[in-house]
Amino acid sequence: MGKARIGVFGLGTMGSALAQNFADKGIPVAVTNREADWIAPFLAKAGPLADRITGAETLADFVAALATPRLILLMIPSGAPVDAMIEAFRPLLAPGDTLIDAGNADFNDTIRRAAELAEAGLYFVGIGVSGGEEGARTGPSMMVGGSADSWTQLQPVLEPIAAKFEGDPCIAHLGPDGAGHFVKTVHNGIEYADMQMIAEVYGLLRDGAGWDAPRIGALFQSWEDGPLASFLIETTARILLVTDPLSGRPMVDMIRDQAGQKGTGRWTVIEALKLGQSASAIEAAVGARSWSAAKSARLAAATQLPAGTAPADLPPPLDLAEALYAGRLLAHLQGFDILRAASAEFGWSLDRARIAEIWRAGCIIRSALLSDLAPILRATPDRPSYLAPGIADLLAPTLPALRRTVAGAATLGLPVPSLSAALAWYDTARQGVGTANLIQAQRDVFGRHGFERTDRPGKTHADWG
Ligand code: 6PG
Repeated sequence: MGKARIGVFGLGTMGSALAQNFADKGIPVAVTNREADWIAPFLAKAGPLADRITGAETLADFVAALATPRLILLMIPSGAPVDAMIEAFRPLLAPGDTLIDAGNADFNDTIRRAAELAEAGLYFVGIGVSGGEEGARTGPSMMVGGSADSWTQLQPVLEPIAAKFEGDPCIAHLGPDGAGHFVKTVHNGIEYADMQMIAEVYGLLRDGAGWDAPRIGALFQSWEDGPLASFLIETTARILLVTDPLSGRPMVDMIRDQAGQKGTGRWTVIEALKLGQSASAIEAAVGARSWSAAKSARLAAATQLPAGTAPADLPPPLDLAEALYAGRLLAHLQGFDILRAASAEFGWSLDRARIAEIWRAGCIIRSALLSDLAPILRATPDRPSYLAPGIADLLAPTLPALRRTVAGAATLGLPVPSLSAALAWYDTARQGVGTANLIQAQRDVFGRHGFERTDRPGKTHADWG
């Protein structure tokens, strides 16, 4: 076998799947792992694909197996392990070589690492890879940062392994240094909101209407081909139809209501706030996961605090579908406006339409909604996404159902934090004359901060008595 065109360091779930995907597409790949005893079982599992895979037990052998300039993809936990591996590889590399971090990294770290390695003539590229294990194996969506030079080298190797949407590879060079990881972070923020809103509708049907899991699953299944078509709806329908072999009950009913989170949703909210953006639907989803962890406090509050005022009319299934569409659309718009703000702040020229396009297949949030959004964003590159012509046409038929759903849930005392935050965000966005005049007056009373009058320019104060 000749030299490998790319090396994958890290044979965990995602690294193994990506390495097999390269081999599958005819790209010779070298692999290695911190624990060298993982390599042989991986090669055995790869079957005939192993003919295109070089297993190397040491970093030196791994680097020697690569064609130059070398492309090394790290698929390891983010944070300190990435810095440690960069230091381990550094003495073995030559100017022009590229290290790729394909994990869920904080884009601030990616910017720092790219600058540090540039001093040694090395490239560092952050790539957001979405789609879980199956996506990595058969075609993920990939959000690429780093320099234009790096992209020239990476494109021929990465494009063949990307997911395709009607033939269009779901991969793009989105901007320099941390742009790819930033876009992946926002993807995950939207993922959190999307998952949460689906869970909120499930909660309304379970706790408000008394439906069992298979009945809710069948409803979600009926949404798989319409405007709500998405990987997450399909996945949810599938989950709700599974029976636990131990208890004979729906599997979902046997799972503790405490969700994990690795941090990318939280990063989205933190970066949004730093950029002066409201990502309230995403924040509500992150907050809901944090609330889920507080199980014993919730159980105590459930008996101590007053409940909603049932009975209330819960909207019918069609309303819930439309409410979910409107809520998801608004959460996506929040994400796209974070991207717009980041693009201006960091000088990235992010192409939001292209981002929507590469999210149409391969990634966790792939959906029919993104096919609705991509052309709208393409036609309006420079404005806040909610002002793009076409958005109003998507919202007009679905927003009334979101209002009825949020109102019904509020009356019943059932939490729909992400759906209601999305609605409040929308109503705030379209409030041409808001209430910040009163905030300014309050600030002037207690802090003499001053305000601008509506009838003349400049800052002034009032005598508040
Ligand atoms: C993807 C996912 C993935 C993420 C998991 C878990 O795009 O493939 O976003 O990258 O790591 O979904 O994320 P949480 O643990 O934060 O839920």
